[in-house]
Amino acid sequence: MNIDGTPYRTILPAADGASVEVIDQTRLPFAFEMKRLATLDEAAVAIRTMIVRGAPLIGVTAAYGLALGLRRDASDAGIDHAVETLAATRPTAINLRWALDRVAAKLREVEVSERAAYAFAEAGRIAEEDVESCHAIGRHGAAILADLHEAKGRRLNVLTHCNAGWLATVDWGTALAPIYVAHEAGIPVHVYVDETRPRNQGAALTAFELNAHGVPHTVISDNAGGHLMQHGEIDVCIVGSDRTTASGDVCNKIGTYLKALAASDNRIPFYAALPFSTIDWTLTDGVAQIPIEERDGREVSHLTGRLADGGFATIEVVSPGSPVANPAFDVTPARLVTGIITERGVASADAEGLLALYPERRSAV
Ligand code: MRU
Repeated sequence: MNIDGTPYRTILPAADGASVEVIDQTRLPFAFEMKRLATLDEAAVAIRTMIVRGAPLIGVTAAYGLALGLRRDASDAGIDHAVETLAATRPTAINLRWALDRVAAKLREVEVSERAAYAFAEAGRIAEEDVESCHAIGRHGAAILADLHEAKGRRLNVLTHCNAGWLATVDWGTALAPIYVAHEAGIPVHVYVDETRPRNQGAALTAFELNAHGVPHTVISDNAGGHLMQHGEIDVCIVGSDRTTASGDVCNKIGTYLKALAASDNRIPFYAALPFSTIDWTLTDGVAQIPIEERDGREVSHLTGRLADGGFATIEVVSPGSPVANPAFDVTPARLVTGIITERGVASADAEGLLALYPERRSAV
């Protein structure tokens, strides 16, 4: 996507051909800075500390991280060490494991001296495919928005949670891709952006993206969505996903489930948009089986922001000494999901719906 007319991707091979550059998302929305990742450890830290975040992007970063690790040690033990290090960074998004498995699958058949170059090229292919998948998700999702617009005959109000835009992928995004495609096609769309405490990906990242691309939007507190739905202010919800089961249960940023409940109560369509790399074909019960990342309580007890003088400050917002919990994701059961927008089309949120789009997986489930 473009920022001030310059096309960007969230991750790109650096000019030296031996490292990658990423957008430092911890600096947004107040500063747009690139950061170079040259080693396995730098890639692992970038994923863990959320310099990069969003399921598809951490998958691609892990793939490049594996390649960077192999530059130092391309032995079988080196492959194992790099895969273990990267897989341990964040447990919920399946794209990370999927990307590592894909790069590692054939590595041992490659000459040791060629392994780093092979992995770097494979990471690049995963990145290119992610761009194509997300663009296709955008086209399929925009068709839903076009139909809704025709039915309503007025501007559409879409609610989204967290950031599932181009910053969370390599380009285009998942939940925001339909909005970008619809906006470019002239369909009037306005987005209600959940702030998404505790890390504020909505307020900081989704709002930054929509601002940069001229898409009308309003940031709301996480608790406002149900009220807006009751008053006819939301026509459709679209969210991304970090892992979706073969049975259509959608795991996404904490708070997504509550939005789906409110949408169901108000008969508002609720879609999840995701590429095939987000589907975990081995799982059938998202609530019971998906590991939910528990992050540092400081993300809840403290807030970082810009001061009026332009400086930055971190302040405490919770009563000192009170225990804090910080589960980072939740699971929306398939029964609350109207449809799953993928690069192959829109599936009903159940095994049959997903298998109709991915018939090659029939033997896997
Ligand atoms: O903790 P984050 O910021 O990595 O969580 C991101 C999300 O939950 C996104 O909605 C999800 O990864 C889908 S991204 C296209």
